[in-house]
Amino acid sequence: MTKRVAFPDGRQVPALGQGSWHLGQGRRPHEIEERAMRTGIDLGLTLIDTAEMYGNGLSESHIGRAIAGRRDEVFLVSKVLPMNASRAGILKACDASLRRLGTDRLDLYLLHWQDGRTRLPEVVGTFEDLVSAGKIRAWGVSNFDVDDMEDLWRVPGGDRCAANQVLYNLGSRGIEFALAPWCAAHGVAVMAYTPMGSGRLSRDAVLARIARAHGCTAPAVALAALIRRGNVVAIPEAGDPEHVAANARALALGLTDDDLRAIDAAFPPPDRKHPLDIL
Ligand SMILES: NC(=O)c1ccc[n+]([C@@H]2O[C@H](COP(=O)([O-])OP(=O)(O)OC[C@H]3O[C@@H](n4cnc5c(N)ncnc54)[C@H](OP(=O)(O)O)[C@@H]3O)[C@@H](O)[C@H]2O)c1
Repeated sequence: MTKRVAFPDGRQVPALGQGSWHLGQGRRPHEIEERAMRTGIDLGLTLIDTAEMYGNGLSESHIGRAIAGRRDEVFLVSKVLPMNASRAGILKACDASLRRLGTDRLDLYLLHWQDGRTRLPEVVGTFEDLVSAGKIRAWGVSNFDVDDMEDLWRVPGGDRCAANQVLYNLGSRGIEFALAPWCAAHGVAVMAYTPMGSGRLSRDAVLARIARAHGCTAPAVALAALIRRGNVVAIPEAGDPEHVAANARALALGLTDDDLRAIDAAFPPPDRKHPLDIL
């Protein structure tokens, strides 16, 4: 059965989506990367993550082409840079993202990270106005640790944050100690970025051994381990249609207790709070 995650507004998304940081920027012919993304949508990876930062908008334009005619099938996520996170800057950045994506609304809009100048009340107020205007359906944050989330919760309306996108893969399990439980307790979906360890986990021998028993590949095991708890959406990026298909197997992959013990032995979970890893 396909694993799904519920957002606070009741919408459900697949627990596996598609990232796009390096897409649309010439690493491969456009047609191949567009085919990869459409293959993913066909296989149920309908949440697509992007950001104005990725290739200075080239990733959003790439997605606009890949989803042309299929907008209603996908859940689109984009992000605003902290340098644009004033009221005027967010409104302008959002319009530019919508234009590049060829759509009139985002399903989720995130603050990419915060810096020393970020005024959270202004960000929250502007995001809420974008919701009222129908330009975004929900909003969230990225690279926020527990302290940052608590600051956000003290801002009026801050508890309407739907998701926190953070670095999470088997080689970087720090969020399991405090942040992931905090998000679960407050109804915030966790979005796991760099879930394949930038591709490194696809070559892991322990994961490959577990995968053989399930008739899949190491990447599917790496991803299934992240999304097993119910409030995590992993967003692997793959520009190769075969990689996308391999990853999609994670959506319905049930790992056994023995599998999870072997994974914990190879990739130990955290035993104390670490500072949030940021890519
Ligand atoms: N919020 C943030 O600050 C933040 C930061 C980083 C990333 N992100 C988001 O998270 C997404 C994913 O993170 P990421 O791109 O850093 O890393 P990732 O998804 O961990 O790794 C991407 C790499 O893995 C390879 N790969 C994927 N599936 C594979 C498979 N089945 N077999 C072999 N290799 C495979 C891809 O190669 P191919 O392209 O050749 O398929 C690509 O080189 C980004 O694209 C972006 O949307 C957000």
